[in-house]
Amino acid sequence: MTTFDHAALFRAGLPPAAARFNGFPRYNFIGGHNDAGSVPVEALVEASTNVLRREGRTLATYGLESGPLGYKPLRAFIAGALKARAGIQCAADEILITSGSLQALDLVNALFLAPGDTVVLEGATYGGTLTRLQRLGARYVGVELDRDGMRMDQLVRVLDDLKAKGVRPKFIYTIPTVQNPTGTVMPEARRLELLRIAASYGTAIFEDDCYADLLWEGTRPKAIRALDTRGQVIYCGSFSKSIAPALRIGYLVADWPVMSRILALKTDAGSGALEQMVVAEYASRHFDAHVAELNQVLKGKAEAMAAALEEQFGAAAEFARPSGGIFIWITLPKQVDTTRLGQVALAEGVALNPGAEWSADAAAGRHRLRLCFANAEPANIREGVARLAEICHREFGVPKRSANVAR
Ligand SMILES: Cc1ncc(COP(=O)(O)O)c(C=O)c1O
Repeated sequence: MTTFDHAALFRAGLPPAAARFNGFPRYNFIGGHNDAGSVPVEALVEASTNVLRREGRTLATYGLESGPLGYKPLRAFIAGALKARAGIQCAADEILITSGSLQALDLVNALFLAPGDTVVLEGATYGGTLTRLQRLGARYVGVELDRDGMRMDQLVRVLDDLKAKGVRPKFIYTIPTVQNPTGTVMPEARRLELLRIAASYGTAIFEDDCYADLLWEGTRPKAIRALDTRGQVIYCGSFSKSIAPALRIGYLVADWPVMSRILALKTDAGSGALEQMVVAEYASRHFDAHVAELNQVLKGKAEAMAAALEEQFGAAAEFARPSGGIFIWITLPKQVDTTRLGQVALAEGVALNPGAEWSADAAAGRHRLRLCFANAEPANIREGVARLAEICHREFGVPKRSANVAR
């Protein structure tokens, strides 16, 4: 039993206390969990055995004899994959391995942001980015999206507004390929425009590309970093979505003047070494085939969720069918407060991400929600969406008739 009051000594400004983990809800449509059946267990076992037998003794030194940027064969694999998949030309020494791309976000934030600084981002964006910026006391301004991602006319409007107030944003944070949460893919022409606009306003670009490997329809455009001729773009990626989120392996790409300052901020003596070794060993043989298979599974689950939403919500749920990724972003009629819906639904076993937490302007996201389709099996998706429709009908009269009533 704790009798000592540590809380009296805590520093000011801490985030709210964490909740205890009590297991996953029955219908788990939140977060970035992935398809369990697609985790390549046997190949990971083989990769672990091979790499440990061959190089296990390098665990005796911090950084595995590869230095502070991370395990060199993994950086070499990433350099090759980025060239082939995203058109990025970079050397292994321009890549830093991070503990998930979340650490990349923390490092870039730590490099640029003091309280009161401003970041420009997509109006609907990754909730983890918003909470990080809030905790740092940074300001952010959202830019409206359309089907091709961040709108450039709106970006110019936002940058002009800020300029008029004497504010130079530190960077534009964008998820251009399979955007979280909207799933949009920014075409190359818009990427070039973004580069031009950012340069003319003297702001950097932070490109978060962690879903880019999960595109099953259309071609993947070149990364913004690949089109960048000024070294203006800092890029991050992750194996969380393409292999497994629990591995905690991400990466950051930047030119040395930026990288050398980021490296000085990474004070954890290196990200998990075994994970880096295993991912390098596995990915260099299997990555392309694995991602192609995973995408087929995700595509099937996306279709199951889209069909369930259409069946259960009808015209009340507006959404675009995803061409990749693991989420569907849904707009419900204005009277539905998805934060309250989320609370009621969770008590009944259905977990969702309310739109307010995924929106730069929380009020604008109040009637939207994000559902992850990657982790649940199709039967569970159908059941969970039906249950959600029932709850939503009961609480908000949306959809007009409850899911159990034949339509
Ligand atoms: C856009 C975006 N960036 C970064 C992350 C963090 O992922 P990880 O740290 O697992 O690489 C996520 C996770 O959902 C995300 O959606």
